[in-house]
Amino acid sequence: MCGIVGYVGREDCIALLLKGLERLEYRGYDSAGVAVIEDGGISLRKAKGRLANLQEEIGVNPLKGFTGIGHTRWATHGEPSFINAHPHVDIHGRLAIVHNGIIENYFSLRKSLEQKGIRFASQTDTEVIAQLLGFYYDGDMLTTLYRVLPMLEGSFALGVLDAACPDKLYCTRKGNPLIVGQGETGSFIASDIPAILEYTRDIYFMDDYDIAVLSRDTIRFYDEMGNELRKESTHIDWDMEAAEKDGYAHFMLKEIHQQPKVIQDTLNHYVNMETMEIRRETMPFSPEQAKALTKVTLLGCGTAYHAGLVGKSLLENLAKIRTTADVASEYRYREPLIDKDEAFIVISQSGETADTIAAMRLAKANGNRVVALCNVIGSTIAREADTVMYTLAGPEIAVASTKAYVAQLLLFELIALDTAHQRGYLSDEQMKEALQALARLPEKADAVIQAKEKIQYFASQSSNCKSVFFIGRLLDYYLAMEAALKLKEVSYIHSESYAAGELKHGTIALIEEGTLVVAMATQHKVLGKLISNIEEVRVRGAKVIAVAANPPQMLSESVAILEIPEAPDAMAPLLAIIPMQLFAYYMALQKGCDIDKPRNLAKSVTVE
Ligand code: AGP
Repeated sequence: MCGIVGYVGREDCIALLLKGLERLEYRGYDSAGVAVIEDGGISLRKAKGRLANLQEEIGVNPLKGFTGIGHTRWATHGEPSFINAHPHVDIHGRLAIVHNGIIENYFSLRKSLEQKGIRFASQTDTEVIAQLLGFYYDGDMLTTLYRVLPMLEGSFALGVLDAACPDKLYCTRKGNPLIVGQGETGSFIASDIPAILEYTRDIYFMDDYDIAVLSRDTIRFYDEMGNELRKESTHIDWDMEAAEKDGYAHFMLKEIHQQPKVIQDTLNHYVNMETMEIRRETMPFSPEQAKALTKVTLLGCGTAYHAGLVGKSLLENLAKIRTTADVASEYRYREPLIDKDEAFIVISQSGETADTIAAMRLAKANGNRVVALCNVIGSTIAREADTVMYTLAGPEIAVASTKAYVAQLLLFELIALDTAHQRGYLSDEQMKEALQALARLPEKADAVIQAKEKIQYFASQSSNCKSVFFIGRLLDYYLAMEAALKLKEVSYIHSESYAAGELKHGTIALIEEGTLVVAMATQHKVLGKLISNIEEVRVRGAKVIAVAANPPQMLSESVAILEIPEAPDAMAPLLAIIPMQLFAYYMALQKGCDIDKPRNLAKSVTVE
């Protein structure tokens, strides 16, 4: 969603701010702006649309400053426009702010300020904060923040400039991520690591209600009572190259290609590949806890939820534990009945998804243990969960998740196998065999990617289709859900997923001559049934593509096949999703879509 970057130091900050914003583009935005302290006042430049528009505006109307803030805005209150773009200033133009999040009581705050004679320039909730800070300003921004922050309901990450203090930059947060770091020439704030990684690898993660006051060479932290805090920094060991395209046309394509390595890196971390034994200390449940598990609830949104559905099947089938998977945005409001000994696993690539955080907090408030599968070190979910298992996917920049999903699937494979082993449902021998099968996945995933021309060919044959139906049974149904989401996210082609056995209960009415149906056909137990479902749509005119390993003759003679290497049913999802990611990518490519930053979408959904 929105992105924040800020700097105070010895360098003219415009180039730093623009570069930082560029690094945050992947989060999704529809306008951008910067503000600096210049000649004792605030200078602003904003533009609707892409960052290039802002750069052009600055080219025409240059500005200069050593203390500044920048923002990419993803509209919530007020349409995407020049006026609504951040930074926002108070009526006196004494201060400027950038804000991520939503101020839920902005309407009443705005009304009361208007009654005091304050005239608003924009329709945003953010401007309320700027006007409140201006109205209550007492000559010291720190004490003014202490006065204003308790008035705000909702969530915020804020960067604040005070023209009266040109050597200082202020920031604070509640519910939205914000980081701070000290570089060689000055101090930085940002909503996400890539924005400032070039300047510092030692990052301070702000906690809710912390306030930081940054100057050239120092950063001071205060808690909500005004006490000075000592904070430890976290060293970030991935580098900027990980956040570059490396010659690929898009991050999505690069990240799809990284998947064999992601699987290998994750296995190396969680499994001793020499002895073929799980590193027990990396697992979330001790042998006693695994034996005692009676119920597990898995929570996430979007792709993470789809990974949870696969996880649910694996935990039930292998470890024989009653497991449910739920969409976090629904779970948090539906007053769920939580058992005392129920364990929770929340799944989130970013670790900042507002609904998943809320669902996690609900479970924690109830006294239940929460394990997080997360890709971002230091994120809110990683910090608040009782135990974190990191997906070792590296930074995922494309909005459409690919490699993080595959890493999430792999963690569920490992958790389910280990728990099954601890509970006595898998012998030592079976466990070794399963791990050996997992060890063969990187090579097989690579083979799927090497066959990408065929997938591109299928995409070129399907370029005019208006909608696509993805069908499957058991794990293939959950994969179909993810395949449909990937296609609609990046290519804007209408796509739906159905449990193949459900078609005849209604959806089959939509099948007509030429309708494209993609059948996920990796689950041997139900392959015969799935083939019957394929026939049902084929004889009604559907054009069918099946994703299968060693497809039976009757299937390969009747439909187009995207063949993947053989793997045990439980592991097939890790391979079968790859051609679907590539299919979505090539469909979007030929439609000329903005693949890494699809319209209306944001990488980390920090509002509910
Ligand atoms: C994935 O392609 C999507 N962009 C989206 O569904 C995403 O998975 C969802 O918003 C959850 O994000 P998280 O994993 O960062 O919590």
